[in-house]
This record gives sequence, C-alpha cells and structure tokens, in this order.
Amino acid sequence: MFVLSSEENKLEHIAIIMDGNGRWAKKRGLPRTLGHRKGAEVVKEICQAAEKAGIKYLTLYAFSTENWKRSAEEVNALMDLLRQYLKSDLKELQDHGVCIRFIGERHMLAPDIVESMAKLEEETAQNDKMTLCVALSYGSRQEIVHAARRVAELAKRGDINIEDIDEKLFSDMLYTQGIPDPDILIRTSGEQRISNYLLWQLAYTEFFFTDTLWPDFNEKLLLEIIDSYKSRERRYGKVKAQ
Ligand code: FPP
Repeated sequence: MFVLSSEENKLEHIAIIMDGNGRWAKKRGLPRTLGHRKGAEVVKEICQAAEKAGIKYLTLYAFSTENWKRSAEEVNALMDLLRQYLKSDLKELQDHGVCIRFIGERHMLAPDIVESMAKLEEETAQNDKMTLCVALSYGSRQEIVHAARRVAELAKRGDINIEDIDEKLFSDMLYTQGIPDPDILIRTSGEQRISNYLLWQLAYTEFFFTDTLWPDFNEKLLLEIIDSYKSRERRYGKVKAQ
C-alpha cells in the first residue's frame, strides 16, 4: 500500500476563476463594468496576500475566449481596464519582485495591449518572488489544440519521433510551459464549473468553491482556503493512507 508523505501536500500554485463581478454590481444597482472595476482592485489585494503567504505561482482567469461574446460595451470596458493596469503596474510588480506571464490567444487582442503585455513580461522576467500568470483571451481547449498542432509540426519536420510524445513534451507545448500544475483551484460566486480553464493542468488539483462574489473576496477567505487545503489528503489516484 502507498503511504503518502506530508511533503506531497505542497502548495506553490493557486489558480482562480474570478466570478461574480456582474452580480455584485447588479445587487447594488450599478453597471456591470463597475463590478469589474471593483474586481480588479481585489486582484491587487489577492496578489499581495498570495505573495505574503509564500505562494510562488498565482494564475488568474481575467478574460476567456468565450467572454468575447459579451456586449461590445462590456468587452470594451474590460479592455480599457486592462490597458489601465498594464500601463500603471510595472513599478508595483518590480517593487514586489513579481514576474508576470500572460496565457491565451494574443492575436485576438488589440495591438497596443499585446505590446504592453510583451513589455511587462520582458521587464519582469528576472523577478523571482512570485509569478503572476494572467489568462487573457484564454480557452483551454484552444490551448490544447494549439499544443497538438505544435507537436504535429515537430513530428512532420522530423524533429521528434511519435514515441517521443509523452506528458512532459505535451505540457511543454502549452502556454503554461515551465509553470507547475495548480495545487488549488478557487472559483468564486457559487458556480461549480471549470469553464474551459486549464483542463490539462487541473488533473490533480484540489477544488474549492465559495459563494462569495469576486469583488467581496479577500485575504481572510484566501487564507481560510489555504488552511483547509492543508488538511486535505492528496492521493493522485493512489490508495488512501491508513
Ligand atoms: C466574471 O464575472 C469576471 C470576468 C469575466 C472578468 C474578470 C475580470 C476582473 C476581475 C477584472 C480584471 C480583469 C481585467 C481584464 C482587467 P462575471 O462578469 O461573469 O459576473 P457574473 O457571473 O456575476 O455576471
């Protein structure tokens, strides 16, 4: 029988689906865009809290490929918010030693946004306190298809043999190349779905769902989830330790 050592309950990566901005605004009779604005403020608080808690990787679902189907008004407001943060956040990231990475389909985004993303990635690449990975125009199925195409291309060129294709090689073709799989996934707002988020990477992740809407999420709730995670037994398909 396998007995797991406590070492296996490592915690280096938290992924979050930040849901409920619209409902938060609606409850207050405010436009949805104000919910996103408040949500973006919470992003800052949670990044700092995660870093303080010693988390090495934080991955946030900021905009999914499916979110493009929202009204032009809402998409534009989200893009403007994004522009604002991309332009103003470099100093803060540097001060906190945070390296930023973006995952998703960049060609869907406006050129000025793509340029700011590349600049932030380049200028923070050496920071090693925490990696903040932002999923933007991201869809996991699209990511997997993209990876499959890259693998096929390598095989077609004769750079790899079919037998060389394994989990490691495939993982390295994903946008998240080099980032360990999440230990914890949090989804706020009471919904219990993955919504096309990190389908490959979440294979053995522990899931936490909270009814709290994203704009009401805070450091205390994050720390409660971390605490609760520590007492979960991660088995990775093995037999329960006796
Ligand atoms: C889900 O709430 C949230 C989003 C679609 C976007 C998340 C964005 C932020 C937290 C702001 C920072 C991000 C950017 C791009 C600057 P919802 O709108 O689906 O809420 P609802 O389910 O209550 O309608």
